Amino acid sequence: MSFTATTLSGSKPEQYAQLLQQARALLHGERDRIANAANLSALVYHALPDLNWAGFYFFDGEELVVGPFQGLPACVRIPLDKGVCGAAARTRTTQRIADVHAFPGHIACDSASNSELVVPLVAADGSLLGVFDLDSPNRARFDADDQAGLEAIANAFIQASA
Ligand code: SME
Repeated sequence: MSFTATTLSGSKPEQYAQLLQQARALLHGERDRIANAANLSALVYHALPDLNWAGFYFFDGEELVVGPFQGLPACVRIPLDKGVCGAAARTRTTQRIADVHAFPGHIACDSASNSELVVPLVAADGSLLGVFDLDSPNRARFDADDQAGLEAIANAFIQASA
């Protein structure tokens, strides 16, 4: 397979529709969770501006364990009662945090991070797979369009790999 990343264009929702198509093309015919997480991390990290980290944490039955990502080396294990990632996993609700320094319990893996979006990954049977985490050096980097677009990509991952 060869993959050509095309530049995203148009409105933000249009750009996310294009990115979702690229994600689906990468996931097509592949169920391996690590392979899919690795390629999605690379796709998203390189397609979206102003990110310093994009990747996956997987739930091992007790806590979150770092999976494939792009960015600087990160905390390996995150308990569910810690950090933005733990909050997303525990509440099964996307956490869109404009200023991580104002978030109680935020874990600073990379001191460059100022805002964060974490999407929980919940399988069709209700089990927690992990989270998809994006960090930005900009404050309030993620808006509702980013959240909807990245939730759609996370859903495509769950459907392909769960
Ligand atoms: N900041 C996250 C930890 C993971 S890193 O950002 C990669 C948190 O508070 O959960």
